Amino acid sequence: MDTADVLTWRDGHIEALDQTVLPHDIRVLRIITVDELVDAITRLAIRGAPVLGVAGALGVVLAMDQAGRDGWDGARLETEIERIAGARPTAVNLRREVRTVAARARDGRDAATTAAHAVLDATVAASLDISRRGADYLTRACGPGPLRVHTHCNTGALACLGWGTALGVIHALHDDGVLAEVIVDETRPLLQGARLTCWELDQLGIAHRLACDGAAPFLIASGRSDAVVVGADRIAANGDVANKVGTYSLALAAREAGIPFVVAAPESTLDEDTPSGADIRIEERPDEEVTVPAAPAGTRALNLAFDITPAALISAVVTEDRVIPLGAARS
Ligand code: MRU
Repeated sequence: MDTADVLTWRDGHIEALDQTVLPHDIRVLRIITVDELVDAITRLAIRGAPVLGVAGALGVVLAMDQAGRDGWDGARLETEIERIAGARPTAVNLRREVRTVAARARDGRDAATTAAHAVLDATVAASLDISRRGADYLTRACGPGPLRVHTHCNTGALACLGWGTALGVIHALHDDGVLAEVIVDETRPLLQGARLTCWELDQLGIAHRLACDGAAPFLIASGRSDAVVVGADRIAANGDVANKVGTYSLALAAREAGIPFVVAAPESTLDEDTPSGADIRIEERPDEEVTVPAAPAGTRALNLAFDITPAALISAVVTEDRVIPLGAARS
């Protein structure tokens, strides 16, 4: 899947694949206003920490253009840029990359555009280095394989551009000929695993099977996986990781089973300003995502979009630059 298919800047607007209708429908969004961008981000048409960073970066240029069209003053432009940065709270990349480009916006539109494209290019490049480094780490930790790898949510090109992060590691293992199979969690309630990861693995020709989230810890405990690889939305200074809800239970199961639990993420997801997982704001999403269609009308939900995995349960964080061994390090 080409990066430009997922998210790009074209003829003065953002063009993005609507991930809410995948895999059964292909719909391309043509985003021209801040309202449209914030809507696409909040309803997860555009999603995944690194891609949110790129959308935020391009969003600053989009806001500058709208300011010109609609006659916004500087204060209004700042307010609209802040709306993009605050569209979703947990993934650090969104606000970080908005800030990166907003800082250059003072030097004019061209400077902001150059900065936004630099964010996009760096995001693609990072995914390739993470994929390679993660595959090498797992081959060292698990032996020559063939490996059975368990993953959660979607961490491929749709979430990260390029090869993705955790899914990029899986892609590299496959290309090395040391991957037997991938077990993919459906990832309720929005099913990023079932809809998006299975679709990407199909396109890559990588063998996989889908599992209910509830089955995952037992599948790991019963020895059906050699390693767990996931992404991250924010990594605190102490190594605690925020990722899609359901990740924590996989880490507990991996520790019990004595298999590596690896987090693949770009350096831009490391947040030195957040001391620990307890300081990470977890997004709570609408009840209906959980209750509809199964629950009786009026049922309330507790719909946390992410959870926190403590550093003690993580073998390593693999970035484009390094392997950071953490509490559960084996090698
Ligand atoms: O709510 P989403 O779909 O944006 O959540 C995405 C995840 O949790 C991913 O695992 C994370 O963003 C990493 S993507 C490399």
